[in-house]
Amino acid sequence: MLKSVFFWIGFSIPLTTTGNLGMSHARTPLIAGNWKMYKKIGEGVDLVRQLTPQVAGVSKAEIVVCPTFTALQAVGQAVQGTNIALGAQNCYLKAEGAFTGEISPQMLLDAGCTWTIIGHSERRQIFHENDKLLNQKLRFALESGLKVMFCIGETLEERENGNMDDILERQVHEGLSGLNEADFGRLAIAYEPVWAIGTGVTATPEQAEDAHAFVRGLIGEHFHQAIAEALRIQYGGSVKPDNAAELIAKQNVDGFLVGGASLKADSFAAIVKAGAGQ
Ligand code: PGA
Repeated sequence: MLKSVFFWIGFSIPLTTTGNLGMSHARTPLIAGNWKMYKKIGEGVDLVRQLTPQVAGVSKAEIVVCPTFTALQAVGQAVQGTNIALGAQNCYLKAEGAFTGEISPQMLLDAGCTWTIIGHSERRQIFHENDKLLNQKLRFALESGLKVMFCIGETLEERENGNMDDILERQVHEGLSGLNEADFGRLAIAYEPVWAIGTGVTATPEQAEDAHAFVRGLIGEHFHQAIAEALRIQYGGSVKPDNAAELIAKQNVDGFLVGGASLKADSFAAIVKAGAGQ
């Protein structure tokens, strides 16, 4: 039933492009710091100046920082020539126009971003962004040339009521509707159980692995197995230096989206190194 809703094309990814399919860490870990509404320009620049030397030797992970809009350009300049990429936390679905208070992918690219987050649970819950809107935003951001970390995840109530699978299926089904093969090359999914965000409660490695495997299965079912195997699924929700290694050890955990612990260079650097296995 769901399959018919998806845009289906004849995928032809040879197995050699995805390497050791099914093997742990065939996918380069993607480790991103979501600064949320923290850090003024100078504070953000200070943070990356401290971070840069600490992660300079990391070659086995992709590193992204996502400051507030006002700090993007300055932080982007500060990370130029390093192994840290710049991302935004949100963007709108038009290039320009009368959309007071919004920002476009084109403006983010202009400010030096290569990535953006879309669909964070705070956007879904506080700003009432629904699956349809998020799908439009995702498609436009990808079409515009940004790479996207697309967030999904269930609330505590949804988990306790046994609705987790349905919620994740809906978020994947409606959120990723219409994506094509090329889009998936610039997409990562961030599984962020809402009950673990900013609460200090982390999903156990087993809970994360179960949810990630389920999401990967959904992608395989609705799109293509090779796409599912190549797709990076980050975990987010109270990731800290002392739980990063056990989370990344799980086969389907391909990186992190880090909030609170990304606001300090030492803790984010420790998470990056654990995530990279370095
Ligand atoms: P947290 O936030 O690490 O502070 O729990 C994660 C996120 O919201 O992306």
